[in-house]
Amino acid sequence: MGTHLWNRKHLLGMADLSREEIHAILEAAASLREVNRRDIKKVPTLRGKTVINLFYENSTRTRTSFELAGKRMSADVINMSVASSSVKKGETLYDTLATLQAMNPDLVVIRHPESGAQEFLARHLDASLVNAGDGRHEHPTQALLDLLTIHDNLPLLEQEDFSSLIVAVCGDSLHSRVARSIALGLKTLGAEVRFVGPPGLLPFRAEEAFGVRVFHRLEQGLEGAHVVMALRLQLERMSVGFIPSVREYFAFWGLTKARLAVAAPNAIVMHPGPINRGVEIASEVADDRERSVILDQVANGLAVRMAVMYRLCGVGGGR
Ligand code: CP
Repeated sequence: MGTHLWNRKHLLGMADLSREEIHAILEAAASLREVNRRDIKKVPTLRGKTVINLFYENSTRTRTSFELAGKRMSADVINMSVASSSVKKGETLYDTLATLQAMNPDLVVIRHPESGAQEFLARHLDASLVNAGDGRHEHPTQALLDLLTIHDNLPLLEQEDFSSLIVAVCGDSLHSRVARSIALGLKTLGAEVRFVGPPGLLPFRAEEAFGVRVFHRLEQGLEGAHVVMALRLQLERMSVGFIPSVREYFAFWGLTKARLAVAAPNAIVMHPGPINRGVEIASEVADDRERSVILDQVANGLAVRMAVMYRLCGVGGGR
């Protein structure tokens, strides 16, 4: 694995990353993936390193895969449960981080509901920091695992690289950090990105802000798309009713086999998870082994998080 393309201390977002840095992570992940297929799934790469996972929001995929990634590379991994920590006694985020810093970890992985929280914390932390999701802002490791999954499928999609690829990101991109991060990553790699959704669930001036094309009709947005990414309705980030009802949302915006007929031949279907069946995606699509790569995304998430830890802990080149 090359060592010359990664000089960062933190991974805060996709907005920061160059095409070369993205490829450096994807190459490292593709190489580390082999470890997860062995009988004995452990390598000594991060022996002696300490990783702390600090999640202020719920998570299944991201938290588990960061923990597993650290353990498979022999790091000491601590999962701090916010619910049973001194956060519940009123300790601030800054003081919590200062306390953890005093124990001299090498890497801290943080998910927090406030956009920009990790950027603030990174300025005060000696350890490396990975943004595991900040509010509706960014979720860079999700974007990297999505890019690895798309890259794996380029031969099926009859594409040599990302430059002629059309990716339709469908649903609630307004509240989605996944949508922002994947749009930024795909644009850096040269793909066409579409945000497809009702006007009330699209970011303000998305064309200018993210360089995406905007579609207000699902069938139009799906036409010719090689990759279709469905997004969960982020109900936890909605202060008012953005949709009339879940049933009506599915009627207009639910991803069904019939609707996918206008996408490119062999188009793949992605979803960052957790999926809400019968809301943004029909079970017939989510479970379609021909098209759905949703569980491949999960498997690639583990490899990508191993690669990110490898790079940030200073053993994979850089600082
Ligand atoms: N995609 C994603 O971030 O899933 P979790 O919330 O389960 O981590």
